[in-house]
Amino acid sequence: MPKLSIDGQIIDVEPGTSVLEAAKMLGIEIPHFCYHERLSVPANCRMCLVDLENGPPKPVPACATICAEGMVVHTNSERVRKARHGVMELILINHPLDCPVCDQGGECDLQDQAYGYGLDRSRFHEPKRIVKDKALGPLIKTIMTRCINCTRCIRFAEEIAGIHDLGQLHRGENAEIGTYIEKAVGSELSGNLIDICPVGALTAKPYAYRTRSWELVSTDSIDVHDAFGSNIRIDSRADEVIRILPRVHEALNEAWISDKTRFAHDGLLKNRLDRPWIRKKKGAKLEEVSWEEAFALIAKRMKMKDSSKMAALAGDLCDLESMVALKDLMMSLGSKNLECRVDGARFDTSKRYGYLFNSMINRIEEYDVALLIGTDLKTEAPLLWSRLRRAGVKILKAVSPDELEAFEKGEYKHTFPLKEAKKPLIIAGMGTFRGSKRQYYHALCCDLAKAYKADFNMLHNAASRVGALEIGFVPKDEVSLEEMDLIYLLNMDEFNVRAITGKSPFIIYQGHHGDENAQQADVVLPGCAYTEKDAVYVNMEGRPQQARKAVKPPGHAKEDWKILRALSDHLEIPLPYNSLLEIRERIAGEWPHLTEFDSIKKARFTTFGIKDADEEKMPEKRDFTIHIPNFYQSNSISRASETMAKCVDAFVKEEG
Ligand code: SF4
Ligand code: SF4
Ligand code: FES
Repeated sequence: MPKLSIDGQIIDVEPGTSVLEAAKMLGIEIPHFCYHERLSVPANCRMCLVDLENGPPKPVPACATICAEGMVVHTNSERVRKARHGVMELILINHPLDCPVCDQGGECDLQDQAYGYGLDRSRFHEPKRIVKDKALGPLIKTIMTRCINCTRCIRFAEEIAGIHDLGQLHRGENAEIGTYIEKAVGSELSGNLIDICPVGALTAKPYAYRTRSWELVSTDSIDVHDAFGSNIRIDSRADEVIRILPRVHEALNEAWISDKTRFAHDGLLKNRLDRPWIRKKKGAKLEEVSWEEAFALIAKRMKMKDSSKMAALAGDLCDLESMVALKDLMMSLGSKNLECRVDGARFDTSKRYGYLFNSMINRIEEYDVALLIGTDLKTEAPLLWSRLRRAGVKILKAVSPDELEAFEKGEYKHTFPLKEAKKPLIIAGMGTFRGSKRQYYHALCCDLAKAYKADFNMLHNAASRVGALEIGFVPKDEVSLEEMDLIYLLNMDEFNVRAITGKSPFIIYQGHHGDENAQQADVVLPGCAYTEKDAVYVNMEGRPQQARKAVKPPGHAKEDWKILRALSDHLEIPLPYNSLLEIRERIAGEWPHLTEFDSIKKARFTTFGIKDADEEKMPEKRDFTIHIPNFYQSNSISRASETMAKCVDAFVKEEG
């Protein structure tokens, strides 16, 4: 391990560490623009110049200089200070004086570093150059005159997002960033370009001129737009979510989030349920009522019905506490008709290995081949897709139902694509389990994993799903909705229940958006969205994480588990918890691993008996369907979002 001195402090570092990183470890700040810890190092801004004693006669860039034994580095010599002044002067020659109106103001590297390391006047009186703004679609606003040509955006696009649309055109004073082809930067991760840009050249279009960064209150939370469990920071002002940014979690999202996670929050203000409603007679309109009246009607109906004809469905955005409360309530009423797989997927839920993403996300780099079945990873889990690509894992996408079945019959053993792999993993999406023979394919996938010593992984799309499976929010036998007299929908917007059941059952909808099911329900109870409550979500690996309340819910909306607790009083079967702490104690009592936040209880490898290939009487499909046809509008929040609708116009319709 090389030992070196930086400003008189001695440090041992791992071989390959740069001087800039070593200085950071010592708490010594070296100003920089083009360097980013997660990207390659082009060393093109020259802001990080340092002096090496007995080294080259000129200052060297700290980001691109690797620590060597006996090096003596000075980061603040007279010569370094002069060099920084020079670089800063050069960068600012053409920079506009936009700070008072620039959205980056207050969190701009250039602003901070000009203040800390620049001069207080300019020697240039020539007109500044103007660079034409680029059309990068509905998410990213460009003011390219502010660009300092650090090329972080280009490196992010190529190295992390896997898009090759951005590049640097021309040279010298004419150098500018542009799209090689005139089209929007259509990647599911494109919003990260905004965080990557050290200046206000790339900013968030929906956030443009809305507020200043110092007016915002930040809350650490968890994303719910997929089952990945990205860590986020919610920035709010008064009771409005103004923006959502990534929070670093090395084992999950690293420093990135998807565009839906970042931009769909404007849907939290649209189409919201803010008071209870009931329909007094069949065919009548919904009427606003008090909570008491709504509960009284539900209690009356529930007491009248046969519990075997009552069912509860938990949708994609439910938190763990509310699902536990709903399960407890239904069990107290004597109903076991619970279902969380509202996307129609069916698989054996008896053993955890069968429904978890068993290869942990932060160990994905250890695998050499990934076999994808029934999933389009790029839209279903864009961050996982990016991690796999960067790790150099070979991705095989070709497995069809025919190939899976041929493997089972032994026809395919020696030519199966996993044959050459040293450490393979199998990722099966919900598309595998939604058509005919779905339980059979589940068993086949696990058999395949056993045969090739691969790890089996189920890729979920819903933030609620693994939590629901962990607490057993599934029926023993398939629930036939047509036979139900009463259906309780907890945030269930994934399909239209009336369309399946006709007009007959009494439907209670509890949730936050007025989607189809709310409009057709007999009672509507307004709940909280993920930004409005303290709640637990369990990601696809089985990792429980805490989301935190950032803003108040609208109107009379209440936290979901509290609604169910209050309803239980009206039913005279009070649930035994009165606070968040108590419901979490209830969860810890039966499922202790679900209250050990940010840790994973691993599941033991298992296979499932192959069931009769004709187990289900569904029309047979000879292909696996892709579950998320439209990345931008996959749940009630993103469907209500204007920004997501613009993305559909720009990216989905354009692609046809
Ligand atoms: Fe000011 Fe930074 Fe905006 Fe430039 S990019 S105008 S320095 S806030
Ligand atoms: Fe750097 Fe931003 Fe310019 Fe890209 S747009 S080169 S990230 S300053
Ligand atoms: Fe070192 Fe840009 S940060 S040259």
